[in-house]
Amino acid sequence: MRVCVIGTGYVGLVTGVCLAAIGHQVICVDNNPEKVALMQSGQSPIYELGLAEIMQSAMEAGRLEFTTDLAAGVAHGEILFIAVGTPALPTGESDTRYVEAVARGIGTHLNGGYKVIVNKSTVPIGSGDWVRRIVLDGVAERQEEIAGFDIVSNPEFLREGSAVYDTFNPDRIVLGSNSSKAIAMMQILYQPIVKREFAENEFLPEVPVVVTDLSSAEMIKYAANSFLATKISFINEVANICDRVGADVTQVAKGIGLDSRIGNKFLQAGIGWGGSCFPKDVSALIHTAKDYGYEAKLLQSAVKVNKEQRLLAIEKLQQILKILKGKTIGLLGLTFKPDTDDLRDAPALDLIRELIRLGAKVKAYDPIITNQNLEITLTKTPEELAANCDALVLVTDWQEFRELDYALFASKMNSPIMIDGRNFLDRNVIEKAGFAYIGIGRSDDFKRFASKIIRETVVEYAQIA
Ligand code: UDX
Ligand code: UDX
Repeated sequence: MRVCVIGTGYVGLVTGVCLAAIGHQVICVDNNPEKVALMQSGQSPIYELGLAEIMQSAMEAGRLEFTTDLAAGVAHGEILFIAVGTPALPTGESDTRYVEAVARGIGTHLNGGYKVIVNKSTVPIGSGDWVRRIVLDGVAERQEEIAGFDIVSNPEFLREGSAVYDTFNPDRIVLGSNSSKAIAMMQILYQPIVKREFAENEFLPEVPVVVTDLSSAEMIKYAANSFLATKISFINEVANICDRVGADVTQVAKGIGLDSRIGNKFLQAGIGWGGSCFPKDVSALIHTAKDYGYEAKLLQSAVKVNKEQRLLAIEKLQQILKILKGKTIGLLGLTFKPDTDDLRDAPALDLIRELIRLGAKVKAYDPIITNQNLEITLTKTPEELAANCDALVLVTDWQEFRELDYALFASKMNSPIMIDGRNFLDRNVIEKAGFAYIGIGRSDDFKRFASKIIRETVVEYAQIA
């Protein structure tokens, strides 16, 4: 099918490239000329595992083009995806001016045949009808007859760092519309993915497709992200209680995660959630609730827990170093999660602001971020980071941080202290390397239990059995 994707950010570019990879004819439109030029040269402006390769092969197959020309994109596509940013305003509500600009632009360029206009961007609930009206406003500016269009809400559930994988292996596809024709066209568009023709495991049953009304589809997106964010704030709250009662949150997460009703994912306690989605989507849902006279108290608490969680690492540094003024703190990782170059609303940004406010010197090493306008020293290697630091804070759980030579780091530091902000490292390895290890909700009691009782139990069992 002929597809136009408008907005080539993390969502739009991945969507366009993957739809071309499964055989569709795709034109991606973006209003940033530098970005378009870069993509026309076959380079991806974002880091996403596997994206560059399939982007190049789709371009070579002649199924993927990039342009700043919205009119050309609209003329080409029978399905038009709106995938521009919907960042959060200071009030918490979604900034939908980009969606509005694109919807109006589509209206002014609509021509020829019937079109399906798809909201891929996360838009406030009730936006489907709003987008229809704006497109019609754009059409009205031309006083020409058009063949008609319908709106579909097709929210994305892509995780940064695995966006390509998530596109080919979705848990479900959600289609919201009041037009059966539009739904049918979307089902044809996604059929290769539904049939798992590009999935890692092609023997899995077909991908479930949830066909529903516009508002429910929009709510599914907000509810999913808000639930996941709340689940993380829940385990972070449990971690904070564990810190006080001497329990170990990783054991608690293991014990509750085995309950199939809870599930073991998104139970990793740490310095909290960041990124371009959770913070934006949870605050947008809270704001929407307020618009309709409801206080979303549970979601507001999840946001509050998360905000305080980010600075927990500072409290732990103060507990062990006392005065931070004049101290040098090294951050392992900057981005809000591993396998991405995205710094948007990363917990590291709050940590850096607070450490500088307290008079500490901040160094950081990130496997992908090599330049930034933060007032910190970025090092080229983790070893350089460790030199002369009074403490290290693991901020992002990059796999490579498990394979570092911590004994060497300890020898280069003023004081070998590790605050493991993601409970990601093996505390025995870190302590053997000479560090004082401090996790989030990781009590010493369990460490003693693990090193002694479990081994003794094996002996006792052998004697009794
Ligand atoms: C964003 C949100 O993060 C995500 O939650 C939402 O579902 C979709 O929008 P993302 O891909 O991260 O996804 O957006 P962003 O990285 O901001 O990229 C948006 C792109 O649209 C940019 O390349 C920008 O240049 C382009 N754009 C923006 C247009 O082409 N036209 C516009 O009018 C505005
Ligand atoms: C999320 C949703 O997962 C995805 O479905 C949606 O489309 C976009 O938003 P993303 O923001 O890319 O994806 O990252 P995700 O992997 O969900 O992690 C979000 C944040 O939660 C990260 O800062 C991560 O460090 C944190 N997190 C995640 C935890 O603190 N603990 C966990 O157990 C899992």
